[in-house]
Amino acid sequence: MTQSHAKKPGTAIVTGASSGIGKVYAERLAARGYDLVLVARRQDRLQRIAAELQQRFPVNAEALAADLSTPDGIRTVSERLSKDAAVSLLVNNAGFSTLKPLTQTPDDTIERMIALNITALTALSKAALVAFKDRDAGTLVNIGSGAGFSPYPGIPVYGSTKAYVFLFTQSLQHEVAGTPVKVQLVLPGAVISEGWEVAGGGDLDPLPESIVMTTEDCVDAALSGLDQGETVTAPSLHDASVLSDHVALSATLLQAMFDAKPAERYGLTR
Ligand SMILES: NC(=O)c1ccc[n+]([C@@H]2O[C@H](COP(=O)([O-])OP(=O)(O)OC[C@H]3O[C@@H](n4cnc5c(N)ncnc54)[C@H](OP(=O)(O)O)[C@@H]3O)[C@@H](O)[C@H]2O)c1
Repeated sequence: MTQSHAKKPGTAIVTGASSGIGKVYAERLAARGYDLVLVARRQDRLQRIAAELQQRFPVNAEALAADLSTPDGIRTVSERLSKDAAVSLLVNNAGFSTLKPLTQTPDDTIERMIALNITALTALSKAALVAFKDRDAGTLVNIGSGAGFSPYPGIPVYGSTKAYVFLFTQSLQHEVAGTPVKVQLVLPGAVISEGWEVAGGGDLDPLPESIVMTTEDCVDAALSGLDQGETVTAPSLHDASVLSDHVALSATLLQAMFDAKPAERYGLTR
């Protein structure tokens, strides 16, 4: 079947599409025939990317400027999700980090990071799932990070926001179980992007090339995982059993936490 006769996959909203991982998502989804709504703050960049994608692929691409660390920005994108019945995919990708100990991180940076990495991702996930459940179709992709697994020096807030994305997105997978709606959690490791500069990434330069992935490989692996029906995709994790064991052990730990009696080591046996 030729592209023109193939069923169109609908519209994808990609947040953080003006650079890095989100920009590559936009390109790869355009190649798959999705119309696009590209979200970020820098409208000039979004417009350039949208124009280029429309030239290269037979799709519509729209720039939707929004600051997702603000309630207004979140509302703009939520409304699009609820009102545009063509939207079939949301990639919750926008996020940022800063490389500083907590005590040296300005208050407004902490607020914006939590607002973008957690509040916006949560609100947009909800808007997407309400719309997708109503339409009996749709896919939500949330971008977490390997940094959400264990404390890493210099990113106390960022790592914790990504730990939230990990738990939150898995919870959503329980909510959509048995429905046609899909939720994928993507966990990149270290990926070359402008995000490192935003984080004040000079200090990240010493990372060996062998552990830093390209944005293209990251997104292609994430889309391959989605095609294969993976719910959790870690592009750079070679031994997938490490992740599945972690998830299983976390579930065992949750169950083990429920007991009326204090543990014996606290010496409270009466
Ligand atoms: N790079 C890595 O090593 C790595 C590893 C694991 C996970 N991740 C995650 O991958 C995602 C993408 O990161 P990246 O590495 O591709 O970084 P990036 O190149 O800096 O891209 C971040 C994107 O988010 C947008 N953004 C930032 N603040 C925003 C705001 N307030 N409102 C709306 N959009 C905003 C930026 O556009 P504007 O500046 O134009 O708004 C940009 O398009 C993030 O969630 C990040 O945490 C990255």
